Amino acid sequence: MTALPEPVTVEEVAAEVTYDLRRAVLRPDGGEITWAGDEDPATFHLAACTSDGVVGVVRFSPAPCRWRPEARAPWQLRGMATEPSMRGAGVGRTLVIDGLARVAARGGDLVWCDARGTAAGFYERMGFAVVTEPFDKPGIGPHVGMLIEVSST
Ligand SMILES: CC(C)(COP(=O)(O)OP(=O)(O)OC[C@H]1O[C@@H](n2cnc3c(N)ncnc32)[C@H](O)[C@@H]1OP(=O)(O)O)[C@@H](O)C(=O)NCCC(=O)NCCS
Repeated sequence: MTALPEPVTVEEVAAEVTYDLRRAVLRPDGGEITWAGDEDPATFHLAACTSDGVVGVVRFSPAPCRWRPEARAPWQLRGMATEPSMRGAGVGRTLVIDGLARVAARGGDLVWCDARGTAAGFYERMGFAVVTEPFDKPGIGPHVGMLIEVSST
């Protein structure tokens, strides 16, 4: 992994701070960049920032997990995106580690996501496991269900 060129800080931010990267990275062909739950008070949004501005974003929100209905306090990870010129430098890792700690601090016991097939290897590096067969999201492409258990603090 390439070392981060400069300090990256992670901050909880308002949903709209994440929209530019969502648009550029996750919806380059158009498509909705504001999603149900963005403004839910339980949802939190993280931004990784350098002196150049926001270089990575992600969202965590409480949501039932269809693969682990017995989970006591499941959360969904969504909207994970790193600015292209900063990829492979640890921005995504910093955001996920920080987010998992914040979920644990809020009493969550599991985090799940619909992972793009191209990003599944990243989530595996973060400790997530694939729990589904591949499935398609129209207009976006192949995905797999992934999850990680977290310990409440
Ligand atoms: C997936 C994404 C968020 C990863 O962010 P990143 O900042 O580049 O990730 P990091 O640099 O923190 O990588 C952490 C580790 O995962 C690995 N990794 C990163 N992206 C990977 C990928 N797509 N596949 C496999 N491994 C990957 C890195 O090599 C690094 O490995 P290491 O533990 O050996 O050092 C970024 O590539 C991205 O924004 N992709 C496009 C949008 C997307 O697919 N988002 C996910 C939607 S579900």
